[in-house]
Amino acid sequence: MKKIAVLTSGGDAPGMNAAIRAVVRYGIAAGMEVYGAERGFQGLLDNALIPMTMRSVSDIIHRGGTILKTARCLDFKTEAGQQKAIKNLTERGIEGVIVIGGDGSFMGAKALSEHNFPSIGIPGTIDNDLAYTEFTLGFDTACNTILDAINKIRDTMSSHDRVSIIEVMGRNCGDLALYCGLCGGAEVIIVPEHEISLDEVVKTLSAGQQLGKTSGIILLAEGAGRAGDLKDELIKRTGMAVKSTVLGYIQRGGSPSCRDRYLGTAWGVHAVQLLQKGIGNRICGIKNNKIYDMDIVEGCAMKKKFDLELYNMATVVSR
Ligand code: ADP
Ligand code: F6P
Repeated sequence: MKKIAVLTSGGDAPGMNAAIRAVVRYGIAAGMEVYGAERGFQGLLDNALIPMTMRSVSDIIHRGGTILKTARCLDFKTEAGQQKAIKNLTERGIEGVIVIGGDGSFMGAKALSEHNFPSIGIPGTIDNDLAYTEFTLGFDTACNTILDAINKIRDTMSSHDRVSIIEVMGRNCGDLALYCGLCGGAEVIIVPEHEISLDEVVKTLSAGQQLGKTSGIILLAEGAGRAGDLKDELIKRTGMAVKSTVLGYIQRGGSPSCRDRYLGTAWGVHAVQLLQKGIGNRICGIKNNKIYDMDIVEGCAMKKKFDLELYNMATVVSR
């Protein structure tokens, strides 16, 4: 392929800029023309396709967000929208598209592939909710942001002998809560994949008190409930001083970690290499610390397995 496009879609994630940079620079070095589509699939519909140069991606490796902007484009879910996008791409002579986004964006990439327009997916989401890859772009940075917040909240909770509920993002996936709960020393981790009753939460907090703990942290995944509701229930049940914090969008921004810059760069290069060989309909991932790719239909159909072993480990080491 000689002309390719790259876009970012769905929720932004730190490391997307590192991936764009790698696609543009590696693509140009390989003799390709690279276009950036603005605002995800909307850019394909609006013909917002910008020719990228080596300098278009200067000074972005350390920035969160996405220089190409992102959007949720409902028109692209329709057959007419997909036909229009492919017409616009074909008229420009563009032969393949790299889609950086989450599971929804991969449905869009799959739709392109089903219309015989080659696409490659790079998993960009803080949620880590894709089954075929051990990690997604942005997850590591989001975890570090959450840990920084936990450390700060812990200081004040321990000074006041309080219990804190910290609600984190993740949609229906509990990985942000699981990893940050483990690494932030949370006494209780509540995720959608593993049910835990209010009785069990109360029991764990009381057991902690009996073991000499005077404060506590509960990490709550947004897919498992609301921090405010849980706070009210716990105060009613225990009389403990319980506070709640919803971390919100702070988790999606910020300078990408070393890991996310690496993943963005490695996946960007890998995606271009596939298109260079005329290969489409694949999604990039990481397994056993190796960059790899798999069929988009197969990868999207996989169901993510919850890491119960890690969850149990976190429970034991937080006593
Ligand atoms: P994410 O990629 O972060 O999961 P969304 O689920 O919002 O985010 O999806 C991002 C975009 O991907 C949507 O706004 C739409 O443009 C495209 N998309 C999602 N689902 C489909 C689908 N079934 N067919 C075609 N495009 C889709
Ligand atoms: O998918 C990333 C994510 O940040 C989720 O964790 C969260 O539920 C959602 O996006 C929020 O989406 P929006 O930007 O539309 O509020």
